[in-house]
Amino acid sequence: MKSQATGKTNTVREDFDPSKSGWHVHDKALQARSSGSTQTALFGHSAQPCPHEGNELQESHLRVDSLNRMPFEAITRPMVICGDATQALKLLPEKSIQTVVTSPPYWSLRDYGVKEQIGRDDSLRSYIRSIVCTFEQIGRVLRDDGTVWLNVGDSYTSGNRRYRAPDRKNRARAMAVRPPTPEGLKPKDLIGVPWRLALALQDAGWWVRSEVIWYKPNAHPESVRDRPTKAHETVFLLSKGQDYYYDHEVVKGPHERRLRTVWEIPTEPVKRVNGKADDHPAMMPLSLARCCVAITSRNDSVVLDPYAGSGTTLLAARELGRRWVGVEIKPAFVDLIERRLYMS
Ligand SMILES: C[S@@+](CC[C@H](N)C(=O)[O-])C[C@H]1O[C@@H](n2cnc3c(N)ncnc32)[C@H](O)[C@@H]1O
Repeated sequence: MKSQATGKTNTVREDFDPSKSGWHVHDKALQARSSGSTQTALFGHSAQPCPHEGNELQESHLRVDSLNRMPFEAITRPMVICGDATQALKLLPEKSIQTVVTSPPYWSLRDYGVKEQIGRDDSLRSYIRSIVCTFEQIGRVLRDDGTVWLNVGDSYTSGNRRYRAPDRKNRARAMAVRPPTPEGLKPKDLIGVPWRLALALQDAGWWVRSEVIWYKPNAHPESVRDRPTKAHETVFLLSKGQDYYYDHEVVKGPHERRLRTVWEIPTEPVKRVNGKADDHPAMMPLSLARCCVAITSRNDSVVLDPYAGSGTTLLAARELGRRWVGVEIKPAFVDLIERRLYMS
């Protein structure tokens, strides 16, 4: 997808150099934090590590391993809560979150091996219902001018195959049981999960403000020969009301033009932190999370990811000087979040 005037897409690269690509970052806090670097840290990795020294957030995050606690009256420091998203969000105060950047488990794609995980539900309908239910809590904790960036992938019906073989590159991408083809769909149909979910959220009262296509230039090849290879995912921008906080100046496209709806962002390779692989099977690129956090939150805002996975959103929030809260159901992923936050 190219813009008619410039022939360029909005592009976010690992080796991002704003002076070459035409992207511009106008985040004063971030610029101050990354001063001395020739690259901005908003997109891609900065040439120098992001400065965390003296960062009080680093020392003081709270890990909550049991949900049998009194609700928090205020979010005074960053925290990671280990548990089910809907239950965990009940601990948080009303209207305390400015923006949510999140990617729930995709329907029937992975088995994270945890009771109460979503995404393995037998029917598409109950998968959507679970997420809408969590969004009820998100709506409660979100400020009135708050927003949600929701990244969700699509999938195809299985044609009633009941098992997905492990993918050699991605061992979590195997399901012992695959759900039957949803009613009304046929074998090999594209399900349209992102829009089914977005419409359910719209029915539940959310505003669907934008559909962003995250184009992956380095998408894995597929063996299929009867359709184009999939190279994108969807990111919705949702809001609680008609008016909300959105800083259109903070990220600009080529020639200072406002951000477009196609974002070209390569998936990022698995890295090793202290000798251990960062082996979450569905990590979002840091640059994608940074972009979302920068646009819809301010310096002192609280950023939430209710399906935190390896903590990419939390990392982006910390880099940008925001406070943050993450919820993740799998204790091993909470360990991974802490490794990524403090040992890199
Ligand atoms: C697509 S991944 C998120 C990846 C994340 N954006 C990242 O960059 O690492 C979804 C995560 O949701 C977690 N999850 C599944 N069911 C959950 C639930 N009921 N409550 C909270 N987290 C859940 C999974 O363990 C998985 O880590």
